[in-house]
Amino acid sequence: MSTAERRSGFPQGFLWGGAVSANQVEGAWDEDGKGPSIQDVLPDGLVGQRTAAPVEPNLKRVAIDFYHRYEDDIALLAEMGFTVFRFSIAWSRIFPRGDESEPNEAGLAHYDRVIDTCLAHGIQPMVTMSHYETPLHLAEQLGGWSDRRMLAHWERYARTLLERYGDRVKYWLTFNEINSVLHAPFASGAITTPAHELSDADLYQAIHHELVASAAATRLARHIAPEALVGCMVLGTPTYPLTPDPRDVMAAMTTDRASLAFGDVHVRGEYPGYFLRTLREAGVHLDITEEDRVLLRENTVDFVSFSYYVSVCETADPARRVTGSGNIFAGVPNPTLQASQWGWQIDPVGLRVILNQFWDRWQKPLFIVENGLGAVDELVEVDGELTVHDDYRIAYLNDHLVQVEEALADGVSLLGYATWGCIDLVSSSNARMSKRYGLIYVDRNDDGSGTLARYRKDSFRWYAEVIRSNGASLERHR
Ligand code: BG6
Repeated sequence: MSTAERRSGFPQGFLWGGAVSANQVEGAWDEDGKGPSIQDVLPDGLVGQRTAAPVEPNLKRVAIDFYHRYEDDIALLAEMGFTVFRFSIAWSRIFPRGDESEPNEAGLAHYDRVIDTCLAHGIQPMVTMSHYETPLHLAEQLGGWSDRRMLAHWERYARTLLERYGDRVKYWLTFNEINSVLHAPFASGAITTPAHELSDADLYQAIHHELVASAAATRLARHIAPEALVGCMVLGTPTYPLTPDPRDVMAAMTTDRASLAFGDVHVRGEYPGYFLRTLREAGVHLDITEEDRVLLRENTVDFVSFSYYVSVCETADPARRVTGSGNIFAGVPNPTLQASQWGWQIDPVGLRVILNQFWDRWQKPLFIVENGLGAVDELVEVDGELTVHDDYRIAYLNDHLVQVEEALADGVSLLGYATWGCIDLVSSSNARMSKRYGLIYVDRNDDGSGTLARYRKDSFRWYAEVIRSNGASLERHR
């Protein structure tokens, strides 16, 4: 087989692009009628303490000012050849408290402009309805998704989005990393009960309500925007047994299934037996109505999307169960892997593993909607231009994309790839700027200083060539 043939592993029409969330890029935290979201009481990020009320400083109040700069920023994405751009809609721009009967027109009009700008550049907008940014009032009033009343507010929000944008947005995601509620109940499920006081009953009831909400949004899309494709979005973390001991294999499977259950329900429309066993053994009796069951069964997703940054190990041996670092949750470190500056272990092959696992399990088209390397970047001047020599990021992305190509050769059906934080943004876990993922550098620092100017990194030029060549420029042997 010739080199050229071997490298043409990405199908025609494969969507290439990047992803961001509203709270990490927009800023304008209280402009045009926007209400506060749960992000405004997380000034130190998902791993920090929640404050009683919105406080300064919080870098997300300005973030990278995408709210005002979206036109220039989307033009930069287009310059790289993006064909898909994933962003979230800030729920509290549309319904500032979450419980209003009428939406905020200024908020709706803003996303009209963002969507139209994408389309004018030939970029498919992919909208996440909820990315860790529930209206704060709703969280405080109802205590989060454990309360069934969240569903009515959500349905009004989802209906509003689909009616307004359904003619222009083809790709919709319901909840970002829906399984992360297991590990970050406030950020993910708006659950105000502190994690250590949260009962299994309330946690699993919240999970059930979110799954029903996701199915409800899918049902709405079928009626309002029949051309739209609705996907679930899960935090993808393959779990390896730490040793060949069968007890470790079983432990890894059990950990994996805690997350896989979310995809199982979205794809199959019912709870898997192992999940029901977990509930039984925890003594949890979920409040599931007959209407919920029908909704779940009849409104399964069109595709499965996921984030991928790390893999983890698991063991049944308590003495070896030390915890490393990771995305939202951490597993036992893998002795064969290197880690990023934040301790997230880098595992390109794990992406091929999870693509195959998801495809084998669900037989639904997949979409990688987050993947990338958070790193400290240094701005340097070359021929009078400022840039970043981020060969480490290029190596990370290249090696992951080579594994994507392998998975495609394995027969996996994959719609596209969106690298996370395609433009530098505020980190989710620590709410700082210094953990950068972008192909575009944004001049803003952890103390809030900086001009907010944008600069193309080396990875910008590299990714543009990957997209132009539909992956043929990837280096397969590093
Ligand atoms: C995912 C989130 O969990 O990981 C993103 O969906 C987040 O919002 C990304 O930014 C990377 O995490 P972090 O903490 O490095 O920003």
